[in-house]
Formats: sequence, C-alpha cells, structure tokens
Amino acid sequence: MDLSFGKKKNAVALDIGSSSIKVAQMNQTRRGWEIIRLGYAELPPEAIVDGSIIDSITVTNAIKSLIKEQNIGVKDTVSSLTGHSVIIKKVSFPAMSEEELADSIQWEAEQYIPFPIIDVNIDFQILGATTEGRGQMEVMLVAVKKDVINDYTNVIKEAGLNPVVIDVDSFALENMMEINYAVAPGDNIAMVNIGASITSISVIFGGLTIFTRSIPMGGNQFTEEIQRQLNVSFKDAEDLKTGKKTDAGISPSAAVEMVSTNLAFEVKRSLDFFLGGSHGSYVNKIYLSGGGSKTAGLPAFMQEKTSIPVEVADPFKNIEIGKDIDRGSLQDMAPFFGVGVGLATRRFGDR
Ligand SMILES: Nc1ncnc2c1ncn2[C@@H]1O[C@H](COP(=O)(O)OP(=O)(O)OP(=O)(O)O)[C@@H](O)[C@H]1O
Ligand SMILES: [Mg+2]
Repeated sequence: MDLSFGKKKNAVALDIGSSSIKVAQMNQTRRGWEIIRLGYAELPPEAIVDGSIIDSITVTNAIKSLIKEQNIGVKDTVSSLTGHSVIIKKVSFPAMSEEELADSIQWEAEQYIPFPIIDVNIDFQILGATTEGRGQMEVMLVAVKKDVINDYTNVIKEAGLNPVVIDVDSFALENMMEINYAVAPGDNIAMVNIGASITSISVIFGGLTIFTRSIPMGGNQFTEEIQRQLNVSFKDAEDLKTGKKTDAGISPSAAVEMVSTNLAFEVKRSLDFFLGGSHGSYVNKIYLSGGGSKTAGLPAFMQEKTSIPVEVADPFKNIEIGKDIDRGSLQDMAPFFGVGVGLATRRFGDR
C-alpha cells in the first residue's frame, strides 16, 4: 500500500512485531547498500496480541524512544503487516495492462476477498502470463483490512512519524533476499519468518513471491510449552528458552523439541500444498528469519523434518555496516532484522 503519491525519498523502516519493535535505516551508495541505523526494543506481551494493537500508548512510546535513541531524523516511515489481517491470493485475470488492472481491481478482486471490499485496501502485483496462456495473466492479490492499517498508522503518527508505505512481511523478505543472496534463476526459495506469534511462509521464484501463507504460531508457543511443562512463569520460560537463564535442575529441551516438531510439520504442510498446486517444482532451500529462528536446534530440526536444506538468512550479508552500528551485537540481532532490512530498501514512490 503506497500512501506517498509518487515522491521518492529515504525513509525509516519500522517493523512493529508483537514482541518487539525493530527500526532500520539504509543508504543506497554507489557501492551498494549501507545500514546506518539499527534499533530494537522489546514490548510487553500484552501490548500487541495476535497482530492487533491492544495498548497503543505503550507501542507509541516504544517507537518514540527508539527513534530518539537511534537519533533518527527522517520522518517518512515504511512498515509492514502480516498474519490474519493480510490476505494474499494468486488469481488469474484476463490479460491487461497494470493501469487497466489498477482501474478495475476493486471490482475484479471482490469475489476473492472474504471481507466486504469496502473494509480492505487492495494492492496487486502482476506475475505474468498463466502457463495455460489463453489471454489470462496471474496476479498476486493483496488485501489488508483497513481498520488494522489504521491502528498501525495511528501509532506511527502518534510517535511523530509519517507513515508512507504499509508493506507485507513476505514482500519485505523478498527484498532482503534480493540484495543479499544470489538465487539461481530456476530455484524456488522458501522463506520462513518465525516471529513471536506468527510464522509467515513464502516461496520466491525468479525474484517474485509466488506463494504465501501465515500460521498463528511462533516463539510464544515455545515459551508457553516450557511454561506448561516446567510450571514456571512466562518470563522465566522465556529466559530458559533464550538461554538468558539456566537452571541445572530443569531443561526446556523436551518442550522445545515438541513445538519444533509441530512447527516443522506445519511448514512442511504449507510447502507440500504449494508443491501440489505447482507441477513438477520443488523447494531448493528454506531460509529462516525472525527471532524464533534463534531457537536452539530448530534449523537442524526443520531440515530433518522437511528434507530440504535449511539456513538462517543473514540480512546483513551483502550490506556495508555504517560507523554508528554496534558491530558486537550484529550477529545476535541479525535474525530479528530480515523484515526490517527488506523494508529499509523501499524508497517511497516504489510500488
Ligand atoms: N535466543 C533465542 N532463542 C529462542 N527464541 C528467541 C531467542 N531470542 C528471541 N527469541 C524469540 O523470538 C521471538 C521474537 O521474534 P521477532 O522479533 O521476530 O517477533 P515479532 O516480530 O515481535 O513477532 P510477530 O512477527 O509474530 O508479531 C520471541 O518469541 C522470542 O522469544
Ligand atoms: Mg515480526
């Protein structure tokens, strides 16, 4: 959703997750991308629940202090949404130009959206002619609920910023991959972003996202299972999971293994669904991102259960690191910034 009316300027990326807010700002230099600002702030678990902002004052204040802490002067903001407020569908339309489709999209999209069309903002990307040809083209249709967009743009405005683009996590990850990894043209790459409450799965082919799905599962399920099995508080379970706290008497590994199994199964199911609808293709590699990808043993587990090579994506792989960035914590922070780095490549005025 481009709210910018065509101008192109540097913007700050704001990834408002349910457990933490990430800010990133990048410059595009002659040598390539340079990251110049990077900030991270945790949110209390009740501020954003399942993608809905419950406590907007807490969220606004967290954004404000991050912007201040990172000394960010730019006001224009690119952020993103994921989960059940976002509907992404691949559909076929009669072949037409982008302008023609832009004019008729509200009408064309209606039958594919499970909400009244008046309640959503619609965007699209033309993927190309359908394999069957016959004057049809494939289009990725994106619908986002207006009330959710409003909730997010309001906290951004309240923090003194100017929301110019609301993107979708999967598309931000596509941008992050594009600047960091050289993917062979015929390869299908799966992106699995494991957040706190949502895991988004997508498949990129030829530089375009051709499949997406989100599942309401993430780091919180690990924490909750540890909490249940070991009878400890959410905070203690979280600390045991992340290794912040160790206790000789109790180990979170049984709970972690159980949830890892469920998550790997769900990822496999989604990818099987994608492969079922896409004849003769296969997924060459899974790239993980999101804080949940830091879970001990999870990448190896995912690889074993899906029989697909798994790697944790490094959003800073091909990026110059600016002088104000704390290099010591960069590797540790990398999994949190897959979406943020992708958003930071957006210049508003982009589609
Ligand atoms: N070292 C670690 N080991 C395991 N899990 C971790 C670690 N560090 C952070 N996490 C988990 O990562 C999750 C947060 O990741 P992330 O910041 O990507 O999510 P989010 O964007 O806030 O959430 P969402 O996208 O679901 O709204 C939390 O569940 C947190 O417990
Ligand atoms: Mg997230």
